[in-house]
Amino acid sequence: MKKRVFSGMRPTGRLHLGHLVGALENWVSMQDEYECVFGIVDWHALTSEYQNVDEIKQSVRDIAIDWLAVGLDPQKSILMIQSQVPEHAELHLLFSMFTPVPWLERVPTYKEQIIQLKEKDLSTYGFLGYPVLQAADILVYKGEVVPVGEDQVSHIELCREIARRFNNLYDTVFPEPVPKLTRSPRLPGTDGRKMSKSYGNEIRLSESPEEIRQKIMTMMTDPARKRRSDPGDPALCPVFEHHKVFTDEEGREWAAQGCRTAEIGCVDCKRLLLSKMLPVVEPLYETRVELESDPDFVADVLAEGSKKARSIASRTLDQARQAMKLKY
Ligand code: TRP
Ligand code: SF4
Repeated sequence: MKKRVFSGMRPTGRLHLGHLVGALENWVSMQDEYECVFGIVDWHALTSEYQNVDEIKQSVRDIAIDWLAVGLDPQKSILMIQSQVPEHAELHLLFSMFTPVPWLERVPTYKEQIIQLKEKDLSTYGFLGYPVLQAADILVYKGEVVPVGEDQVSHIELCREIARRFNNLYDTVFPEPVPKLTRSPRLPGTDGRKMSKSYGNEIRLSESPEEIRQKIMTMMTDPARKRRSDPGDPALCPVFEHHKVFTDEEGREWAAQGCRTAEIGCVDCKRLLLSKMLPVVEPLYETRVELESDPDFVADVLAEGSKKARSIASRTLDQARQAMKLKY
């Protein structure tokens, strides 16, 4: 029996290169070994975007297209929309009955986010319950393995505690899922800071090869290399972080050596990077153009996926209701 995997992404804007090398490549490679459910978690988007709901629908579609373009395969994996499987909400409610509020207040992301996103009022019931909903996402499929980044580990810990508490209080229904940490080389954006929509420095998966070429060619480099003859330090250069992801050892060595000795210029260095990066992103762009022209296909994938997801989730809910004496 294959182990079940659940992971999710919030529909709050376009996916970028950081998502590709951080999470998505990992997800794609898990599809054969595991039984995967991947969710576009629109209710989770609402926990912080409840005043800003207009873009969620388009975002869901864009993420689905990005997922399909990078190789998530609806023949192998279930691709679903959280709000189309109301069992997530029911399980969230059941879990909320026995999840102590201090457990939630202690989750490190909770206080951090309230401070970081201070332009939004996040002192809501829903936002406090974010990790409970996440636990429901995973456990409604009895997910055992959860591919996530480091920042999500505390949420998976909480999910384990919720599963344990349920099993102790009622009956053993749920596994205790473990995080599978994604190799996450922090890809910097074009200005050298972490790649992020909020900085406007991202290279989106949906960009054309020409747009990507321009972004790389104007990307920040080691500021010490003002002139071609000034030597640089690859360790201080965001372009080199991209080489670490896309370029083979030999090419990387060439770039590093040439940079330190000023034997090559940044333009040469960036050309090499593009020759490695474009073959990865170009096919994505082409697939995406095809998918854009077939919106029904994308809608069908999500509808079918959500239907399959629902049939698994409803069996779990049956057991959860039974355990909590809610069968009438
Ligand atoms: N909290 C996750 C994030 O921001 C998204 C998410 C929601 C998720 N539900 C999940 C991830 C369940 C893994 C499993 O990235
Ligand atoms: Fe960066 Fe390459 Fe220029 Fe060195 S040569 S500063 S690594 S772009």
